[in-house]
Amino acid sequence: MSTRESHPILWTESLTRKFGGLTAVGDVNLSVSSGELLGLIGPNGAGKTTLFNLLMGLTTPTSGEVYLEGKKISGLKPHQICRLGMVKTFQNVALFPEMSVLENVLTGGLLRASVEEATALAKDSLAKVGMLEIANKKAADLTFPEKALVEMARALCTKPKVVLLDEVMAALNETEMDHILRLIKTLRDQEGITFIVIEHHMRAIMNLCERIVVLSFGQVIAEGTPLEIGANPEVISAYLGTDTTSGDLH
Ligand SMILES: Nc1ncnc2c1ncn2[C@@H]1O[C@H](COP(=O)(O)OP(=O)(O)O)[C@@H](O)[C@H]1O
Ligand SMILES: [Mg+2]
Repeated sequence: MSTRESHPILWTESLTRKFGGLTAVGDVNLSVSSGELLGLIGPNGAGKTTLFNLLMGLTTPTSGEVYLEGKKISGLKPHQICRLGMVKTFQNVALFPEMSVLENVLTGGLLRASVEEATALAKDSLAKVGMLEIANKKAADLTFPEKALVEMARALCTKPKVVLLDEVMAALNETEMDHILRLIKTLRDQEGITFIVIEHHMRAIMNLCERIVVLSFGQVIAEGTPLEIGANPEVISAYLGTDTTSGDLH
């Protein structure tokens, strides 16, 4: 743990994004250790997706910077950031419906490799998520859990060091979610991939993550272990409005 903590793979400096008068992300200083499983939570509209978009170069910061492995990446294009090793899944899984699973996953690999190499990489990525047998299925015919796993495989196909997961488990039941949680842990343990996970389902976040950052109105309002976050009154009130005794965060 201590070696991980001393080597941030990703950090932001006063990262800010305003939309007109609205500060979607305000002055965020985030530091993520290599191999960390970090949870990002906060009420709807807190700025979580905007923060991911800023990290990926999909949204331009109003001010502030993003660094990946010590290199400033804010100002770079999303495909350049992807080549440097960071990838994001989309909140509403956006596969190409008429293409096969393999073709969808392959699109991730083409940024880095030739078609032959990307095809091999795509098969390897599908095998890692246990979906190789549906490689030829049309994306439009996939179930929700299959879609989530294919989206994961597409991210893996870019050979990422850092994966940003934006609510990939939203439509899944408990068993399907547990499968993805185990997969994320395995990928971290075996390949050292760093994950930042946005998820509304508190049990998933609490079980998976070593550290949780809480956003509210674009600001980091709390940060700590799942236990610390679960017991933090400010977090509970950010989720539920005023005071509560239920302790249920969602
Ligand atoms: N492209 C945009 N134009 C204007 N406002 C936006 C845009 N994207 C996000 N916002 C606003 O920024 C705030 C944060 O949104 P978002 O990052 O999607 O929150 P979250 O993912 O935490 O639900 C919201 O108030 C949202 O309406
Ligand atoms: Mg969002």
